[in-house]
Amino acid sequence: MDILNTINKDNLPKHLAIIMDGNGRWAKQKGMLRAFGHENGTKAVRTTVETCAKLGIENLTLYAFSTENWNRPKLEVDTLMKLLINSLKNELKTLTENNIKLNIIGNFEKLPASAQKELSQVISKTKDNNRMTLTLALSYGSREEIISAVKSISTKVKNNIISTDAIDESIINQHLYTQNLPDVDLLIRTSGEHRISNFLLWQIAYAELYFTEVLWPDFREKDLYEAIISYQKRERRFGKTSEQIK
Ligand code: FPP
Repeated sequence: MDILNTINKDNLPKHLAIIMDGNGRWAKQKGMLRAFGHENGTKAVRTTVETCAKLGIENLTLYAFSTENWNRPKLEVDTLMKLLINSLKNELKTLTENNIKLNIIGNFEKLPASAQKELSQVISKTKDNNRMTLTLALSYGSREEIISAVKSISTKVKNNIISTDAIDESIINQHLYTQNLPDVDLLIRTSGEHRISNFLLWQIAYAELYFTEVLWPDFREKDLYEAIISYQKRERRFGKTSEQIK
């Protein structure tokens, strides 16, 4: 594919995060139920994971289920959980073959026991893989994550394990669900919505944001390449002037 040759392999985002949006609208456009959109969204997950691994992206984080998504109709929540469990069962082989480690962020305990069990197994079986870390944000909310970090840091301060003065960015990072992941470099959201929706608020402080009209089930290799090419054309200044970073 020609477009692939225009990507600079030395300037890939170290951490790519994606808000996969538009499954419901995609299904509606086809006169189908929302579940059909989610099923096809799962196929786009597979393609994206494989493409990222092939490209050499070290960290991919996908927003699969937010804390707010628990408020959707029970049938839809059940469908998403079933899709998750089936995908984990079916994709263990692909993860292993591609040397991909599975990680999760979010409120794991709120997930159904069957999903917890499947996740624990795949996490344990892929723990030594080191080509790419695939993080699924499941029952994830950034504000909840920050609250949980504040609570554990406060407890440590109370018990004299850390002093208030020692609290810095690194301490905060260590107490977030994403503790071992680098900051997000590129955040993609599909389906034309221009929102962050409570996703990785701390971790995207300096991320480049990329919005595409493409609905998630239609997201293909080409769309990912376009996002990365756009990222590579940007000047990341981290608060400095253009001259300073040249
Ligand atoms: C957003 O579309 C998508 C989700 C809430 C769930 C994403 C889940 C998957 C792609 C499938 C399962 C995931 C894995 C990791 C196997 P939407 O329903 O909000 O679409 P809409 O905005 O058009 O209604």
